[in-house]
Amino acid sequence: MAKGPTIGAMSAAIDPKFFRQVMGQVPTCVTVVTAMVDEQPQAMVIGSFVSVSLDPPLAGFFCTTTSSTWQELRKADVLGVNVLGADQIDVSNACMRAPDERLDGLDWEMDGGAPRLAGTTAWIRLTPNQVIDAGDHEFALCNVVEMSVPDEPNEPVIFYGGAYRSLAAIED
Ligand SMILES: Cc1cc2nc3c(=O)[nH]c(=O)nc-3n(C[C@H](O)[C@H](O)[C@H](O)COP(=O)(O)O)c2cc1C
Repeated sequence: MAKGPTIGAMSAAIDPKFFRQVMGQVPTCVTVVTAMVDEQPQAMVIGSFVSVSLDPPLAGFFCTTTSSTWQELRKADVLGVNVLGADQIDVSNACMRAPDERLDGLDWEMDGGAPRLAGTTAWIRLTPNQVIDAGDHEFALCNVVEMSVPDEPNEPVIFYGGAYRSLAAIED
């Protein structure tokens, strides 16, 4: 992916532990971003996946610059975003194993050039647009080229306060 401009810089006045504690109160999705690079499947758990633009369709995610898997993912021509369901915590845990074992034993197949996991809440296929510096992370801005959801909606898993959660409807 080509390099783009830089997004801001973090204030030195914010204690990193406090930063994490406060940001832990911001719920996120749990996705597994996948790619096939040199015939080796790559997978990384990403909570920072975000919708960016409708016209043109853009989405992206932040990766820590120290991630070895990000260094592989950024070489790919196609990326898959597997949005995990509340019943897929085991899939997230599996994808936190050593990089070359992450998809072992999981139900997946190639779809349009990227590994697609079975049973997800949503599937989004991306192509790289640009990489934007963002402090100790980089933002992978991508083009959305294909999207799908299952016929039967599958509620997502949420990451909040350092733990996985499921959604509950609020009665009003
Ligand atoms: C729920 C959850 C969300 C995560 N979100 C991100 C993220 O958005 N960006 C990131 O760089 N790492 C994120 N991580 C951490 C990476 O998945 C983890 O550090 C991974 O091991 C990095 O790959 P590597 O060890 O192969 O370099 C997340 C982990 C979890 C469990």
